[in-house]
Amino acid sequence: MVDKVIPIRIDEGKGLTPSIPGKLVPAHSHTKDLRGRTLRDLRISVTDRCNFRCTYCMPKEVFDQSYPYLSHQELLSFEEIARLSSIFASLGIEKIRLTGGEPLLRKNLEVLVEMLATIRTPSGSALDLTLTTNGSILRKKARALKDAGLNRITVSLDGLNDEIFKKMNDVDFPVHDVLAGIAAAQEVGFSSIKVNMVVKKGTNDHEILAMAKHFKGSNIVLRFIEFMDVGSSNGWDMTQVLPSKEVIARIHAAFPLEPIDANYQGEVAQRWRYVDGSGEIGVISSVTQTFCHECTRARISTDGQMYLCLFANEGFDFKTMLRSDKTDLEIANAIMSTWAGRDDHYSEVRGSHTASPASGHRKVEMSYIGG
Ligand code: GTP
Ligand code: 5AD
Ligand code: SF4
Ligand code: SF4
Repeated sequence: MVDKVIPIRIDEGKGLTPSIPGKLVPAHSHTKDLRGRTLRDLRISVTDRCNFRCTYCMPKEVFDQSYPYLSHQELLSFEEIARLSSIFASLGIEKIRLTGGEPLLRKNLEVLVEMLATIRTPSGSALDLTLTTNGSILRKKARALKDAGLNRITVSLDGLNDEIFKKMNDVDFPVHDVLAGIAAAQEVGFSSIKVNMVVKKGTNDHEILAMAKHFKGSNIVLRFIEFMDVGSSNGWDMTQVLPSKEVIARIHAAFPLEPIDANYQGEVAQRWRYVDGSGEIGVISSVTQTFCHECTRARISTDGQMYLCLFANEGFDFKTMLRSDKTDLEIANAIMSTWAGRDDHYSEVRGSHTASPASGHRKVEMSYIGG
């Protein structure tokens, strides 16, 4: 909670520059965390609700009718999200990803996108604005999102076969409708579209090749994600993780691949391209090849807590600050002092912390903190 924030003054030094006499505005702050990592990337969860019940994220047994979802008043409003985002932008954030739950379930999300699209970084550029969605209502929303200024889109899809898809998301939703959402995103002009497939060994791993074949040559980047022990309720165990190395080997045997460089420092996906020039794929190997050493991400939960790691078990309360009379500068200071005290590197120490609800080391659920 915020009372844990060690107050440091970033207005004494390189963090802030005076503009109007007597008034300080934040400039690029290069404050590093305890492991030398700079804050660059912000992920904001806009709802903790979802119309799917993926077994690895919101298992039905836990996320049932009686689950205590947040009430509307508990959520950050669009105005609060936009204000916080603009403070983060003044501190050097370059990218904002909207997540959930399912972000498109938040009413009028395009209005928020429009607000975020007006934010400028200290160097005057717009933010890279992107969104991760399950695609279920993307067909309806694609045009409005594009018009509002969303730059990129990532759609989760765990298989092409309806039966397998259902085994993963535990609802009756046709794959065809998600594909229609992706097609709509292409039609309205999104030039950067990614598809994320979580791979659970024994459940959907035999869909890997079909998925690769389907998206090969489409200009859509398919990424395979190792099943992770996020939250405390998805029954994770190592036997259900298919190492990315194996994913690459299977695809390479059918369609030869070669590795390519990352797009940017801290990219979580390792990129591979088809030797025949028909596009690229990625693998996200947070279990077998950890990437904490270059993790530049902060997360804002649906109710305005800042989390420093996907696997954290507590956050820092920024909603209270936003709803008090704190100035932007005070909030900026609190963000940077929180970041400065960050030591999180969960994936590197996974073995010693892997939680079961009974172990007492309870981690927050991904639907609340954002993926
Ligand atoms: P790009 O901007 O397109 O590079 O997006 P991204 O790959 O960073 O974001 P995306 O939401 O598509 O991430 C894909 C998945 O990678 C997430 O759903 C998580 O499963 C996993 N992931 C993303 N960031 C982290 C992270 O910081 N730590 C861990 N352990 N996993 C992450
Ligand atoms: N393991 C890996 N990825 C997960 N996601 C959610 N839960 C998990 C998990 N246990 C990611 C998926 C999904 C996005 C919304 O969150 O990438 O597409
Ligand atoms: Fe919903 Fe995405 Fe979680 Fe699946 S992974 S339950 S679609 S938020
Ligand atoms: Fe970052 Fe935590 Fe993921 Fe490591 S486990 S990469 S510190 S979010």
